[in-house]
Amino acid sequence: MERIGVGIDIGGSGIKGAPVDLGAGELTAERLREPTPQPSRPAAVARVVADLARTITGGLGDAGQGLPLGVTFPAVIQHGTARTAANVHEAWIGTDVQALLAEATGHPVHVVNDADAAGVAEARFGAAKGVRGVVLVATLGTGIGTALLVDGVLVPNTELGHLEVGGHDAETRASDAAREREDLTYKQWAKRLQAYFGALEALFWPDLLVVGGGVSRKSEKFLPLLELRTPIVPARLQNQAGIVGAAVLAAERAGS
Ligand code: BGC
Repeated sequence: MERIGVGIDIGGSGIKGAPVDLGAGELTAERLREPTPQPSRPAAVARVVADLARTITGGLGDAGQGLPLGVTFPAVIQHGTARTAANVHEAWIGTDVQALLAEATGHPVHVVNDADAAGVAEARFGAAKGVRGVVLVATLGTGIGTALLVDGVLVPNTELGHLEVGGHDAETRASDAAREREDLTYKQWAKRLQAYFGALEALFWPDLLVVGGGVSRKSEKFLPLLELRTPIVPARLQNQAGIVGAAVLAAERAGS
């Protein structure tokens, strides 16, 4: 019988969730999405997460009862507590996200940084499946999130989107939001990605670089322009990666 988990992905504009087949790394029902409340204070967000969790676990019948929920959050998460807040209200900083959401949903909850969840999903089921050694996953979106995996094991909270490159916080220049904001051509943007990934490979010497985020669907427009010593490939799980990775980590944490 397939083992089922649940993943919920909290972002600055949307909160998404679905049940996940933990063996296949695939959603077993349609992904639900609710807008992130504005302002995105903890109590308001927790209510939306609780609604989504109720609908998703309710759809699983008896199997949904007490099921651990994996939740992604766009911030540094140390042992369940948010230490930063990117694109969500600053009231989250210092909040025990895990305890808050466990209380709101009535389920055990495991919270993880959004890029870390995506990285785990790519390592288990996607572009980095079976790759030994050092893998760096970078999600290019509103910011840049990163996940570092060594032989498939996650080193959490690497925050390499904030690496200083050319005197700038890298994500302010090389994120997909920067490309859109400054109306850059893919060629212009690729120059910035070259500087960013060049700096990453000089410091980490990864065996593989994986590029995620919505723009990775158009990777043929910019990946071929990069000259790196490290192989660089697009992510495979696209917008499901966070949900899948969080569900897997929550199930493992719960020992199932
Ligand atoms: C945050 C990271 C997050 C990334 C993607 C960055 O600004 O510092 O924690 O993973 O954005 O959301």
